Amino acid sequence: MAKIGIFFGTDTGNTRRIAKDIQTLLGTELAAKQVNIRTASVDDLLKYDTLILGTPTYGEGELPGLSNGTSTESWAEFLPKLAGYDFSGKTVAIYGLGNQKGYAKDFVSAMIFLHDSFTLCGATLLGASSTDGYTFKQSKAVVDGQFVGLALDQENQKDLTPSRLSEWLESLQTAWA
Ligand SMILES: Cc1cc2nc3c(=O)[nH]c(=O)nc-3n(C[C@H](O)[C@H](O)[C@H](O)COP(=O)(O)O)c2cc1C
Repeated sequence: MAKIGIFFGTDTGNTRRIAKDIQTLLGTELAAKQVNIRTASVDDLLKYDTLILGTPTYGEGELPGLSNGTSTESWAEFLPKLAGYDFSGKTVAIYGLGNQKGYAKDFVSAMIFLHDSFTLCGATLLGASSTDGYTFKQSKAVVDGQFVGLALDQENQKDLTPSRLSEWLESLQTAWA
């Protein structure tokens, strides 16, 4: 079985497309096929020791999900199911999609909810990244001066995504080794 599980939430497909790119970049021997979190159970995540989790931000700085205006269930409905589960010994890396011009006060904020939920379950969080190169006012996902995961902006900085993604995956592969 592939060692890395990739799970994503999405409404308009950007976060799914990045999940697919991640699987392609890591290779199918290492990474399992990406799965929409709307169709996953907690046990599906627990099959992997290494997880990459993707989320867009909706509402104002919120997770995707019915309560925040997306068309299907997503992370907002999934995260409460984690209560009581043990993810110790597992590593989790998060990437987040957002729009730094349109939502400058809450850029990629939803990453923080994944970060905090999986930390609470005992997982080790990897993949924090620099805020250099982005222009925004505020983000809940900035902790100690860094994003808690990788921030991607397909609306305003699509051309930077391939290099950001490959650098981030390289740094993760060093951390996993
Ligand atoms: C109604 C709405 C609310 C949004 N709110 C935010 C936000 O608070 N912060 C942010 O960074 N991006 C926000 N965005 C931008 C989306 O996160 C961005 O378009 C993302 O790429 C969508 O990902 P998806 O295609 O996987 O659903 C919002 C977009 C929409 C349409």
